[in-house]
Amino acid sequence: MKHLVRSLVTAGLVLGAATLVTPGAQAADAGAGQAVYAAKCKSCHGAGGEGNAAIAKMMKVELKPLAGTSEEAVKAAVTKGVGKMKPVAGLAGADVDNVAAAVKAMKK
Ligand code: HEC
Repeated sequence: MKHLVRSLVTAGLVLGAATLVTPGAQAADAGAGQAVYAAKCKSCHGAGGEGNAAIAKMMKVELKPLAGTSEEAVKAAVTKGVGKMKPVAGLAGADVDNVAAAVKAMKK
């Protein structure tokens, strides 16, 4: 009997863990993040994160290349803003994680 209870508890834990890994709670998706990047970041940061020189001049900043920026730094920049960059409007949840993964994966 004790054994049966233990197996049921184990099965419950396995099922519980499986439901945690439903779409939406997935690991960051760099591929999906590239689309977010193209829509929300590219105009200022350039297709490869190199920085749009005209924007840099207009905003009087140096746009450092984004390639290889840590996911934490990207998330902080897009949700809280950094220096002269304002938090990016309309970006939340998985989009933030995905775009962070996409930026980190950029080739230098
Ligand atoms: C309106 C233009 C604009 C848009 C759109 C924009 N940024 Fe920025 N971003 C900037 C500027 C300007 C800076 C530099 C801020 C400073 O140094 O004062 C910056 C800085 C950053 C930095 C810090 C880089 C470093 O190491 O100094 C990261 C990371 C970043 N942006 C990511 C993003 C991502 C990801 C997006 C899209 C979700 C995005 N930005 C959209 C203008 C923009």
